[in-house]
Amino acid sequence: MHPIPVRKMEFEIPSPEDFDPKWVANNIVLSYATTGVSLYVAYLEPFLVKSLRRVLDQVTDAELKENVDRFCRQEAQHYMQHERFNEAILGKGYPGLAERFARVKADFDRFLKTKDERWCVGFVEGFEAYTTQSALGSFKGRVFDHPRTDKRFGALFRWHMAEELEHRLVAFDIYEHLYGDYLFRAKMCVIAQSHIWKFILDCMRIMSPVDTARYGDSYRVSAPMRAMAVAIVLPMCLRTIMPWYKPHSLVVPDSIRALSEELTAAAKSAA
Ligand SMILES: [Fe+2]
Ligand SMILES: [Fe+2]
Repeated sequence: MHPIPVRKMEFEIPSPEDFDPKWVANNIVLSYATTGVSLYVAYLEPFLVKSLRRVLDQVTDAELKENVDRFCRQEAQHYMQHERFNEAILGKGYPGLAERFARVKADFDRFLKTKDERWCVGFVEGFEAYTTQSALGSFKGRVFDHPRTDKRFGALFRWHMAEELEHRLVAFDIYEHLYGDYLFRAKMCVIAQSHIWKFILDCMRIMSPVDTARYGDSYRVSAPMRAMAVAIVLPMCLRTIMPWYKPHSLVVPDSIRALSEELTAAAKSAA
């Protein structure tokens, strides 16, 4: 099996009625942050695929070309699965959330129309560098295996984050192969990572008051709690812009390799 396998998975999807917004480890900040990621990737990942597909002809290294193709096929599976889960989130009815979500789509449509290839590939790498950090952090903290994590969303994210680690080198390698400009890469890390975090913080602002009224005070996310969430992710973001950052030197625990095999065995198909 290729180290970047394209799996088709089958997941149990929650309905809006049986979806508890505090679904990650009984932690409301982590839950809204991860819910925000689920919504965001539904529009981000098509952008990743389009951005890399349009420069694929310029890649002269056959192995990298295949890895980029596999990256795109993995990402396409991710957003299709997230779209199904996102119906449960949006179906709970949060005034203003659908409009904010539509702005994410409008942003990515605009980026594809108005930004050049280097900007788009730089955005892909800026985002993927962050995803790799957060995937490693989520496995280290075992948040998706936590007994108080929704098993259905947990299964979706374990698969997604495992594949993010499988393809962690691809965006970096294509950026280096085509452009290799460190300062521009650093700028795109800041742009991409602040773009998702602005959306996540808006999700918290929109969803928390509605859920606090519905379910009680344990769903409240105050401004200091939002600031703390940013403070926690900031070191991860800074790591990605250091001149010596290279996903090749990251240590991926053996348990991830075992998880990759487990996912391949559980997939409807894998190639
Ligand atoms: Fe993904
Ligand atoms: Fe990815």
